[in-house]
Amino acid sequence: QTTRRFEFNVEWKNVTRLCSTKPLLTVNGEFPGPTIAVYEGDHVEIKVTNRVAENTTIHWHGVKQLRTGWADGPAYITQCPIRGGKTYTYKFTVEYQRGTLWWHAHYAWQRATVYGALVIHPRMPFPFSTPIQEEFPIIFGEWWSSDVGKVEAEMKNGAGPNSSDAYTINGLPGPLYPCSNKDTFIKTVEHGKTYLLRIINAALNDELFFAVANHTLTVVEIDAVYTKPFTTSAIMVGPGQTTNVLLTANQVPDSSGAFLMAAWPYLTSVFPFDNTTTAGFLRYKNTKGDKTKYPPKAPSTFAPEKYNLPKMEDTKFVTKFNYKLRSLASPRYPCNVPKTFDKHVVIVISLNLQDCPANKTCKGYAGKRFAASMNNQSFVRPALSILESHYKKLKGAEYSTDFPEKPLKPFDYTGVDPVSENLNPKFGTKIMEVEHGTNLEIVLQGTSFLNTENHPIHVHGHNFFIVGMGFGNFNATKDPAKYNLVDPPERNTVAVPTGGWAAIRFKADNPGVWFIHCHLEEHTSWGLASGFIVKNGPKPSQCVLPPPDDLPSC
Ligand code: C2O
Repeated sequence: QTTRRFEFNVEWKNVTRLCSTKPLLTVNGEFPGPTIAVYEGDHVEIKVTNRVAENTTIHWHGVKQLRTGWADGPAYITQCPIRGGKTYTYKFTVEYQRGTLWWHAHYAWQRATVYGALVIHPRMPFPFSTPIQEEFPIIFGEWWSSDVGKVEAEMKNGAGPNSSDAYTINGLPGPLYPCSNKDTFIKTVEHGKTYLLRIINAALNDELFFAVANHTLTVVEIDAVYTKPFTTSAIMVGPGQTTNVLLTANQVPDSSGAFLMAAWPYLTSVFPFDNTTTAGFLRYKNTKGDKTKYPPKAPSTFAPEKYNLPKMEDTKFVTKFNYKLRSLASPRYPCNVPKTFDKHVVIVISLNLQDCPANKTCKGYAGKRFAASMNNQSFVRPALSILESHYKKLKGAEYSTDFPEKPLKPFDYTGVDPVSENLNPKFGTKIMEVEHGTNLEIVLQGTSFLNTENHPIHVHGHNFFIVGMGFGNFNATKDPAKYNLVDPPERNTVAVPTGGWAAIRFKADNPGVWFIHCHLEEHTSWGLASGFIVKNGPKPSQCVLPPPDDLPSC
């Protein structure tokens, strides 16, 4: 087994975008951060040194962390933060997964700028016949002209959503934003070659559509799991999700020598979310366009639909796209979806309005503050990591294992706004606890309260299978009959359909404490989160490994 070592220095770096310069929190001064590339089966050690005054942690999003929860990263769930001047080395083995994942800070809203790709090269040859000549990452992010720390603080106090100032591709907004022509991502390709695009949505708050003019994309992998390949004009990728696609450079460009690639949001919804477009270019080598100046200009009247991008709010496209995502389910890469389950949980994921505390003024809506909840429990992080409290069996731990496994009082979630049902969720730190090896089925039920959004729900420490999805209220007698138990997609983040539900299944066999939350950062700040403990199994190989010596203390 090879050990691969990396060093991450969390430090400030002045970065200029949209004609304004501001200090960004970065890793090693890079924005986006460095790519971590390893091979399946490798042991990985990343020494993280915090060179700033504020706390930090790093999460390896999608890495299963088998028995190594101490290296997972979410602050106060599996570790206390790394304080200024301190170092913590994350150690884990990358097993039973291969493809594109990513890493990001998991403290406050630091992931706005602290993120990068995590590539796991397969041990076995790529299972598809198309030869790949080259690969490159496409990482979506958001650029905030204001201080994200302040935005977060306001949201935590229940203020409404706030938009970023631009979307970015590999940190670059592109020519459709003011002052950004030189900050445009351009990839040079050669005619006839096939490229693997490792697409990551690291944006804080938006599901995005992505397309490349005149070219099709063949999806081959999601969240570091191979899929049955299918060709599409565009993809939808939610925050936290990754998608690998193949693109063959088989077009003849016009005099610009390049084709536009672009991403814009799927939902803009009730609130005035950012509905702008980030763009970059595929530039063909050895075409006459080589002589023209780069970057090529974006068309002055930009009509995204002309460039393969679905229209905003195009839920039909998203539904069809999701339906096409299937596990490979081949002899070498079998689909291990649990055919039955031991425990069935229904989680209503909701935005809420909370009475404003006396003697305060709330910036939310109608004098109230915004909150968000799972089964009406709005998650509050404890002051000591839950994994540490659990592992050391500490008395007086600030969490309890009585998370309600179904909504207290079912109602029509996606009908008319059931306002009264959504007032005043309870704040607290309630999580679930399951035996090692429990086959869990969780139905994630969206609501139409305040808005209808597609919530990207992320589970730490496990992949899961999306066995069913639908609109309206989940029907416990009819819907399970339509489940896909043959080749359902396997992921770590599911975009629960707007105005609907998703059912996921997995074997909870990784002992530890695992966070589960909406990957829209504003919703996590409002409390759309919970977690679960998987108890140690009877065998030593089914137990959490002891904590590392340098584990930060609170
Ligand atoms: Cu990518 Cu808990 O997050």
